[in-house]
Amino acid sequence: MDSVGTSLFERLGGEEKLTELVKTFYHVMATDPMAKECFATHAGKDVTESTEKLTMFLSGIMGGPPAYHDKYGHPRLRMRHAPFAIGEKEANQWLYCMLKAMDEVKIERGIQGEIIPYFKQVAEFLRNR
Ligand code: HEM
Repeated sequence: MDSVGTSLFERLGGEEKLTELVKTFYHVMATDPMAKECFATHAGKDVTESTEKLTMFLSGIMGGPPAYHDKYGHPRLRMRHAPFAIGEKEANQWLYCMLKAMDEVKIERGIQGEIIPYFKQVAEFLRNR
């Protein structure tokens, strides 16, 4: 099938698939001992809200509806992550959860490869220690 002109958001499977991915991502983070420290930074957070926000944010990043921007304005990710201690370990654990979630919801390797560099770059950018 010709994918020229379709966004990553559409090729991934649209809102339904993205929601499934982010739910799985937070489920992995909450249950996999490999992600313990990363999960700890979310202590006291309502994961339902985190799931919604990350889904809305990634929709815009992947060329789908810019839902996060429409509701909250500029994401200011570095500023919003400043209250949480993000070192190498936490950043790597975030990536680990995302990679595991992408496999669990069966996102094709080719599509994963299109977004992984972005996740790596942002996780590194958000490190504050
Ligand atoms: C590619 C990397 C990442 C992306 C794209 C990302 C994206 C986001 C977004 C969009 C939000 C919601 C912001 C808001 O409106 O409040 C958020 C919240 C948050 N992020 Fe990240 N993040 C990343 C990495 C990390 C890492 C490495 C950590 C720490 C281990 C982390 C911890 C948190 C916490 C604790 C919240 C607050 C949750 C909430 O308020 O519901 N993030 N992130």
